[in-house]
Amino acid sequence: MSILFSTFCVIFLLFSLGESVEKVGFETIQAVSASQFKCLASNSTLPYVFVRVGLADGSIDPVGIQNLANAYEGGFNVSIVQILPFFIPSFTTDPKIQLAKIQNALKKTNITLFYLYADINAVKWSSVKSKNQKYLSDLHNAIVLTDSKPGYSTNYSSWNNALGSSFSIDKDYQPNLLWTQNTGKMNYSGFVKFGGWNTPDYHLWKSNVNICGVNVAQVWRDTKANAVQRKSSFFNRLETMK
Ligand SMILES: *[C@@H]1O[C@H](CO)[C@@H](O)[C@H](O)[C@H]1NC(C)=O
Ligand SMILES: *[C@@H]1O[C@H](CO)[C@@H](O)[C@H](O)[C@H]1NC(C)=O
Ligand SMILES: *[C@@H]1O[C@H](CO)[C@@H](O)[C@H](O)[C@H]1NC(C)=O
Ligand SMILES: *[C@@H]1O[C@H](CO)[C@@H](O)[C@H](O)[C@H]1NC(C)=O
Ligand SMILES: *[C@@H]1O[C@H](CO)[C@@H](O)[C@H](O)[C@H]1NC(C)=O
Repeated sequence: MSILFSTFCVIFLLFSLGESVEKVGFETIQAVSASQFKCLASNSTLPYVFVRVGLADGSIDPVGIQNLANAYEGGFNVSIVQILPFFIPSFTTDPKIQLAKIQNALKKTNITLFYLYADINAVKWSSVKSKNQKYLSDLHNAIVLTDSKPGYSTNYSSWNNALGSSFSIDKDYQPNLLWTQNTGKMNYSGFVKFGGWNTPDYHLWKSNVNICGVNVAQVWRDTKANAVQRKSSFFNRLETMK
């Protein structure tokens, strides 16, 4: 009886410890060494990192590519500690050419990456929303065709200004959303629906935090957010695009 009871206590303790530690990740664009990444990876609250790999002029971010390698070496190398690369699309560059450059740079690192995020905040768009929508749709289709899972890093005002709040990039395949509204709150309180998203998957909620000597933006993940949904219409469309 007492053995059973203490076993129960241990299991309960483990369970409650696991539950009480809120999983947040981070984003960084400064140069981070492998030993700094090792320090970050040893922090159980930081199971993922967003690393910038492409700049707004359509070029590759060499700091980001090095960070990616360092992150991998530092321990962000298994499925539970993930690297999520992101790039800033260049509106004036052909989406396919731009993407090919990024995929090529990522391929050279030999690291298997599943997601590719496009940062919509910093893009200089045209004043014609339909043109912006066409551009983003082309980029999205190109990402999907390379078998990466697309995600978008944006917020209501950035999306609304460029594309219109009700513009949904892909109704058949709701991509992940990293919501970039600095609310200072580790939840999606204050989220107003846009782009077809009902809730964000990730929330960049606090910038300029120093952890392990690295300036990071803290990213909270909603573990209850809708998983990426791929409808059969999506696969049908994919077939016709190939
Ligand atoms: C671990 O990360 C959290 C943020 O998620 C931070 O508050 C804490 O200071 C970090 N711990 C160490 C030892 O750096
Ligand atoms: C991941 O990195 C850690 C820390 O550098 C290392 O001990 C481990 O062997 C690595 N795992 C893989 C699968 O490469
Ligand atoms: C990637 O793999 C290729 C083929 O095995 C190898 O020649 C190359 O040096 C590797 N690159 C890196 C950055 O490890
Ligand atoms: C939306 O994101 C942009 C770019 O990161 C930022 O400048 C702006 O302040 C954000 N808007 C809000 C309401 O947080
Ligand atoms: C979000 O977090 C803030 C501050 O921690 C809290 O006051 C608020 O109630 C939370 N909102 C939700 C919907 O959980």
